Amino acid sequence: MQRKWWHGKTAYQIYPKSFCDSDGDGIGDLRGVISKLDYLQELGVEIVWLSPVYCSPLADQGYDISDYYNIDPRFGTMDDMDELIAQAHTRGISIVMDLVVNHCSDEHAWFRKACEDPDGPFGEYFYIRDWHEGEPLPCNWRSYFGGPCWDLLPGHKDKVYFHAFHRKQPDLNWENPALRREIYKMINWWLDRGLGGFRIDAIINIKKLLPFRDFPADRDDGLCAIQRMLAEAEGVNVFLQEMAEETFHRYDAFSVGEVFNEKAEDLPQIIGDNGYFSSMFDFSGHLIGLDRRGWHLCRLPAPEEYKQAVFTAQARAADIGFFSNIIENHDEPRGVSHYLPQGERSDAAKKLLGGLNFLLRGLPFLYQGQELGMENRTDWTLGEFDDVSTLDQYEVALRAGLTPEQALRAVSRYSRDNARTPFQWDAGPGAGFTSGTPWLPLNGNYREINLADQRGRAGSVYEFYRSLIALRKSPDYAETLVYGETVPWLPEQKNLMAYLRRGEKTLLVAGNFQALPQGMRMPCPARELLLNNLDSVDTDGTTLRLAPWQLVVFELEP
Ligand code: GLC
Ligand code: MG
Repeated sequence: MQRKWWHGKTAYQIYPKSFCDSDGDGIGDLRGVISKLDYLQELGVEIVWLSPVYCSPLADQGYDISDYYNIDPRFGTMDDMDELIAQAHTRGISIVMDLVVNHCSDEHAWFRKACEDPDGPFGEYFYIRDWHEGEPLPCNWRSYFGGPCWDLLPGHKDKVYFHAFHRKQPDLNWENPALRREIYKMINWWLDRGLGGFRIDAIINIKKLLPFRDFPADRDDGLCAIQRMLAEAEGVNVFLQEMAEETFHRYDAFSVGEVFNEKAEDLPQIIGDNGYFSSMFDFSGHLIGLDRRGWHLCRLPAPEEYKQAVFTAQARAADIGFFSNIIENHDEPRGVSHYLPQGERSDAAKKLLGGLNFLLRGLPFLYQGQELGMENRTDWTLGEFDDVSTLDQYEVALRAGLTPEQALRAVSRYSRDNARTPFQWDAGPGAGFTSGTPWLPLNGNYREINLADQRGRAGSVYEFYRSLIALRKSPDYAETLVYGETVPWLPEQKNLMAYLRRGEKTLLVAGNFQALPQGMRMPCPARELLLNNLDSVDTDGTTLRLAPWQLVVFELEP
């Protein structure tokens, strides 16, 4: 495998709106991020992915871009962005932006022009079809955020346009070479500014199954989940290969794809040595217990399921490339609220979950606040949700017959807003996030869970994450942790999640994923204890007796 500049790094996702607000308007901004660069350096991360900060009406929190070449004034200015890139650079940090090119905003100039003249060149930038009242739509696919993928083209009574997500996010027509050229030009414009690369949003959606046609309905709304069509659409690889050659590869940029449902045989093309992306997220944990019929039917993963999913993914990528490993992001509930059994919120369990994921082969991505053990908010009221998809899922639950209380409880567990509550810097007013009123309510537990409390406190979740990152970078173990293979250890032993990282050295990562102690046979004697989420470790050299939620990392005898 070819070695790449980003292989040994630890990445960190910032959701700018909720990270740090420098001007008291309740909205996090780029000057806020700049003010926290020293913090990120102290934590040890070297790649920072910013969720979108481009001009946007924020219908989907910036994933609806109205100008790819400008920063939304609520987040700052282009000067702030340039300063962020430069200041990060002096601290050894590469900035990665979100690349949202499956769709743009309905307020983008391209879409405005398409509405003015659907038969002109910009009409071809989108999927616009003739339609007359009373006729069926061009296809019956259900958008990700609910309802049909088609809406009336503004200003027209006899034309509709396609949107896979919100109606304010019209899909771009990748079949049109002129559109593709515009996208590549924009990507290179950013890379020329010194950007380290991109996280590529919703990218599998750029290839539609054409011509549009119906699928059997899967709910009583007569629609069919758009995922069903994606499974049959062929040819996304051609677009992505072209994009990589025209952009990322020319700059040796880092790229990580939000790729779902890829075909197994495509993995080498995606993340292999000459793959079109550097990496893609491993969403196998996220898929456990998922039910497309609605969040109210989803079920939380059990530790065994999580372990098997992760091991399967590790084996899939082993000889091919690097997955990016996560326990949460801005679209997911908080990892500790999702993967730990209900009610388990001890620091030990949080460190166990984080450590088991972090030490896998691949690129670790932390999401802001994960390093503090931030949790889901548990006392949402309906009016407090901002996320479009939460509001849709609430309606889905009601239509399925749940009471308002049940529906609220169901969406509270999965709401994307759980990850979007402001970062908890300290126990003061506004949690140190803002001097004003935060755009989304804080999690009330910020008085207990915050950086000021954990920084420098031995045994805190934060200090544990710092030691994980330091271990990954340490001259003695980096080679093994970055390039060593993952070998599951005793995968059949229930609620034990253990694996070897075997390369230049051999490391054992062993976690007791339950509230009871359990014994484990050691593969061979340990040479040195490298990490422990508790104060002591109980072993006689052949057996390891793990306390509840204990996680240990040993270097083994060769
Ligand atoms: C991705 C983003 C999500 C967004 C969607 C549409 O899944 O992560 O936040 O809503 O794409 O852009
Ligand atoms: Mg602000």
